[in-house]
Amino acid sequence: MKILFATPECAPYVKTGGLGDVSAALPATLAGLGHDVRILLPAYQGMKVSGEVGDGLDLPASGPWPAAQLVPVRVEHGITLLLLACPGLYQRPGGPYVDAGGRDHPDNALRFGLLGRVAARLGTAQTPLPGWTADIVHANDWPCGMAPLYLAHERLAAPRDATAASVLTIHNLAFQGLFPLASADLLGVPRRWRGIDGVEYWGQLSMLKAGVQFADAITTVSPNYAREIQTPAHGAGFDGILRARAARLHGILNGIDTRLWDPQQDLLLPFRFGPGRMQGKAQCKATLQARMGLPAASGAMLFAVVSRLTAQKGIDLVLAALPRLAGTGAQLVVLGQGEPQLQQALQAAAQRHPQQVAVTLGFDEGLAHLVEAGADAFLMPSRFEPCGLNQMYSQAYGTPPIVAPVGGLLDSVIDVDADPARGTGFVMAGADAADLEDAIVRAARLWREPQRWRRLQANGMARPFGWQDSAQRYLEVYRLALQERGGSGPPR
Ligand code: ADP
Ligand code: GLC
Repeated sequence: MKILFATPECAPYVKTGGLGDVSAALPATLAGLGHDVRILLPAYQGMKVSGEVGDGLDLPASGPWPAAQLVPVRVEHGITLLLLACPGLYQRPGGPYVDAGGRDHPDNALRFGLLGRVAARLGTAQTPLPGWTADIVHANDWPCGMAPLYLAHERLAAPRDATAASVLTIHNLAFQGLFPLASADLLGVPRRWRGIDGVEYWGQLSMLKAGVQFADAITTVSPNYAREIQTPAHGAGFDGILRARAARLHGILNGIDTRLWDPQQDLLLPFRFGPGRMQGKAQCKATLQARMGLPAASGAMLFAVVSRLTAQKGIDLVLAALPRLAGTGAQLVVLGQGEPQLQQALQAAAQRHPQQVAVTLGFDEGLAHLVEAGADAFLMPSRFEPCGLNQMYSQAYGTPPIVAPVGGLLDSVIDVDADPARGTGFVMAGADAADLEDAIVRAARLWREPQRWRRLQANGMARPFGWQDSAQRYLEVYRLALQERGGSGPPR
């Protein structure tokens, strides 16, 4: 199959969260299975990509968009990146979505409208890549949400089979790509698709809704989240439209990139380790304690957080549970960045407990690996979690996770008290601070029983979290999308 994987972020070139990891690993796995995969990604400022660079293809100015170029770069694992170069839109300070001050780029509708537009084009006879039209346009999250709509539009004028089938993956329903409804003019959304059956969402235009309404198939990143988002409690306002499209909605659990996240081979670690040879893990713990300025006490249990610091991640619960955690004599390291109040509260906690709590603010891939390796247990009390990757990384690194009973966390962690033989972590009974405290206390107790703790670690390290099975599920969805292409959705 010819697959265009359109995404606003892709590790190691640009990453703000798990979508970056998925955008690297899933295409590589699909390519390994013999498919022809190209990744469409904006060329942001400061991005370093090495590989065999092909000739840039001109994309003439059209509608509100300036002229742009598509630059193919052949990188490792048989993957071609198609860098979407449009300096006026993408070459500027800040991240993919926000400026250096943390505010949304004011022209995000245009920036990501172009990404959707070019993705769709690559699935039609007017493809800018000579001789290459995608069979599948796989759009990720709201920044690519316009692609299915544009493809549906192209299809009106072409035989059904002449355009690619579209698949939308929802990585996080909390980000909906909302813009003034008037942007519909700019983006060229046909009039009849501007209402509630189309892109309109509470008086605004939602790029995510465009994707949900027009994609031939929709996936999200865990089976449990696929169920949750069809309910008012977790649907973030989208539950109704997702229920209406339930027949086309599939939950597929993310995998982890075992080339990068394997403690036996991880080159970012000072010491490597694996099942049955865990000294390296103890050495990583000592290195981590030293690096974070904590006493190198092997007898103090070390808890850890690596996370975007946002309400989603339940960081406030960690703060609320901290006195109890510190009361057990344990230590806590936090690596993250995000909301200023959470950053300040964490720093204040570190000042209150200098022997026990250490915080590093910022984004640091190498340190994230060391934290996963060096910690004894990992905290992830998310309020909602579409999939979550860190709880899988931590299991692979012998660092049992403590997780809230939501989303993909429930699909990927087995509570050790519920199933002592197979358990891999601790699932909180509920989603508040007292539940987190209870789970921390349960973990601290079990840690004092080395034999049982080693069993727990070994169970986690043995789990096959790679991408092979999930990639097969995506291929099944692609086939369904091709079969059903154009068969549903809003009136065309
Ligand atoms: P989300 O995508 O919601 O942020 P995930 O658990 O799916 O959550 O993925 C988060 C990814 O981002 C993981 O690879 C994690 O290690 C990484 N990450 C998050 N914060 C940081 C940070 N401050 N420094 C380095 N890596 C981080
Ligand atoms: C989102 C979600 C996270 C998921 C990631 C990759 O950022 O918040 O749960 O793991 O996307 O799909």
